[in-house]
Amino acid sequence: MAKKVLGISFGRKMSNCDVMVKHALMECEKAGCEVAFLRADDLNITNCNGCISCVIGMITGRGRGYCVRHDDFDILDECVMQSDAVILACPTYETSVTGRFKTICDRIGPSHDITFRKAAYEEGKAAGKPEEKLPDVRTFKKRSAALISVGGAMTENWIALTLPMMYEFTFPWGMDVVDTVEYYGAMAHESVLGYPEMMDRMTKVGQNIVASINAETEEERLQWRGDEEGVCPVCHTRLLQVSHDNKTVDCVVCGSHGTLDVKDGKIKVHFTQEEQDRSRLRWIGKLEHSTEIKTQAQPSGTIKNLKELKAPYAEFNPGAFAPDPEAFGNIKA
Ligand SMILES: Cc1cc2nc3c(=O)[nH]c(=O)nc-3n(C[C@H](O)[C@H](O)[C@H](O)COP(=O)(O)O)c2cc1C
Repeated sequence: MAKKVLGISFGRKMSNCDVMVKHALMECEKAGCEVAFLRADDLNITNCNGCISCVIGMITGRGRGYCVRHDDFDILDECVMQSDAVILACPTYETSVTGRFKTICDRIGPSHDITFRKAAYEEGKAAGKPEEKLPDVRTFKKRSAALISVGGAMTENWIALTLPMMYEFTFPWGMDVVDTVEYYGAMAHESVLGYPEMMDRMTKVGQNIVASINAETEEERLQWRGDEEGVCPVCHTRLLQVSHDNKTVDCVVCGSHGTLDVKDGKIKVHFTQEEQDRSRLRWIGKLEHSTEIKTQAQPSGTIKNLKELKAPYAEFNPGAFAPDPEAFGNIKA
């Protein structure tokens, strides 16, 4: 059966992200894959309302890990479930991903967290539940991914948060990112189509995804195929946070602690194997988090007089400032 590759563009219609994802998909199609393409802006997907019934359902065994809201997220979900790989491209808005990208990420996790789903699946199976009452078994399929961030700015630091944030799409369902591309300076070109080197890189994205999903061994599937090793050996990004005691640095994407050395004027960051395994991109790191939630989260109803404690805040509703008649904000042109 042909391998399936899903491309999702979060950009404007027929602009850079659309063209870049489509080009990579064409390469996958040439190699015999079945491909699908979604434009995030064509999907009507509402915000996560924060009810966490997806997770509570899985922990209690009452639910399958699905959102109470049914909208076009279901289309995206079904496409991912069928796929062997995804290729995502997202524009940079305000140095990071677009609002729609984040909205979709919130709808993915934690309802799609593979450790929550696996436990719910196994407990449900052991209790004799039929497959249709369990989390979708296709969740546990190994998937590869490529991430492409696009920014109009000429300076790289104006796209600094986009690529790291894009891992929010892939990590809950355990997709393995094998290639990333950061394309900044997009506004210097009328379109990426006028930048042959970047289009060639998109050919390579397609080829890298095909090589990963057709790999004979798991080691080969996971092989890093990006241009640079980056700093973190797990996610290959370069975004570090200094710890409060100034002794270690954390990979912001993975959550792993590392130590920092400067040798011959060069910064070297070291993550032990144990810390690499604790990455939230890996099973152990995800399991650490889901176990923490299951065992340490305070059950609701523990604070006895919560209603009275909340009352002053419920009654305090000052609302918005009235428009300033002396100012000229928001006048329709
Ligand atoms: C609201 C908004 C904010 C933006 N902020 C940034 C930014 O911080 N950094 C940057 O490099 N480009 C920024 N851009 C430019 C877009 O990233 C750029 O136009 C990109 O090509 C959009 O992708 P698309 O062509 O696929 O739609 C911004 C664009 C918009 C609309």
